[in-house]
Amino acid sequence: MAAVDVPVTLKIRTGWSPDNRNGVTIARIAEDAGIQALAVHGRTRSCGYKGDVEYDTIAAIRQSIDIPLFANGDITTPQKAGEVLNFTGADAVMVGRAAQGNPWIFREINHYLATGNELPLLKGQKSETPC
Ligand SMILES: Cc1cc2nc3c(=O)[nH]c(=O)nc-3n(C[C@H](O)[C@H](O)[C@H](O)COP(=O)(O)O)c2cc1C
Repeated sequence: MAAVDVPVTLKIRTGWSPDNRNGVTIARIAEDAGIQALAVHGRTRSCGYKGDVEYDTIAAIRQSIDIPLFANGDITTPQKAGEVLNFTGADAVMVGRAAQGNPWIFREINHYLATGNELPLLKGQKSETPC
């Protein structure tokens, strides 16, 4: 990234469509271009938000690049965060919709990953998980 002095990061999906899941290729191109960290949403462009996230491609990307990797998509609980980290080998998770109305999820995830235990609900905090 010779054009700028600041670190440049990138977020991608796993490919254009299920028939063209080229996330590994794009990730390698990004790393070669000097991208400092990569986030991957485990759906393709054509899938929009339909269907389940698949984490296989994120795991394959982890095996293909050395820069820090964020796994993203459908991470709604601390337990799911732990499962996705274990399955993909990603360095971190990125949480989107599950944080809407539930900004406590980040400390809940941190606590769970550090201790294996769930944090008690805060006063006024609702227990349901957004979908
Ligand atoms: C309101 C909203 C705005 C978003 N804006 C962006 C954006 O500007 N750029 C981007 O890469 N993804 C954007 N996303 C996608 C999320 O970053 C994320 O990849 C996607 O929601 C899947 O993760 P999740 O299941 O944790 O929500 C947005 C999602 C939502 C719900």
